[in-house]
Amino acid sequence: MDKKELINCGKVKSVYNSSDDDKVIIEFRDDITAGDGARKEVMTNKGAYNAIISTKIFKVLEENGIETQFVDLPEPNVMIAKKLEMIPIEVIVRNIATGSLVRKYPIADGTRLEPPVVEMDYKDDEYHDPMLNFSLIQALGIATQEEVDILIEKALKINEILRKFFADAGIVLVDFKIEFGKDKDGNIILGDEISPDGCRLWDSETLEMMDKELFRKGKDDEVMDAYIEVYNRIIPDEEKVI
Ligand code: C5P
Repeated sequence: MDKKELINCGKVKSVYNSSDDDKVIIEFRDDITAGDGARKEVMTNKGAYNAIISTKIFKVLEENGIETQFVDLPEPNVMIAKKLEMIPIEVIVRNIATGSLVRKYPIADGTRLEPPVVEMDYKDDEYHDPMLNFSLIQALGIATQEEVDILIEKALKINEILRKFFADAGIVLVDFKIEFGKDKDGNIILGDEISPDGCRLWDSETLEMMDKELFRKGKDDEVMDAYIEVYNRIIPDEEKVI
């Protein structure tokens, strides 16, 4: 499948139209950013590791009844995906309080959150992804109440599946961000990616970070080793393509 015109150039991924009107080609680049893109570096093969990790996670979710955008991974950093109209909401699920939650609310870092906390942020770097609620979502014309209910239900189900999946690999799924879109029939489908860029992942034994938080904290030289460790733990040898 050949790339046609670039339809979206995000901070770390480029999305192209393809010869099939219902599919897009997503190139995972080697860029890594923090602070709404204020800091940016390039890390060799980071795009491929994220694309392969995301592919594995999307396949696990599909096996567990969650429809995703994933179609194929013809090259280590190139994904073919269903074309979706993305909903500009970042759905965040938290199992352990940390990050912006403990900066904004009186909850101690490391507190287990049971039931998990679900947040929705407006995906807009210019406004620094402000937190949404139901009435703001309606006022902004982003989604209906029914659609928001579906996002929350799917996000919690995804959390249950992935918590177990990562636990089996000796990793604690602390929190993560996901995005959804609508297909041409209006079905709400999981899109974007699930990778160490948008998750907090801690080693179950040592609680060491294995995700982009290392980059946010300026530990740039530890980032790729952490991503590769996640890759090695969750990708079986026969599925390793790099
Ligand atoms: O920074 P904060 O604590 O709100 O992040 C919660 C989770 O959502 C983290 O796993 C982070 O990686 C992810 N996130 C993201 N993109 C954003 C905001 C948060 O992937 N724009």
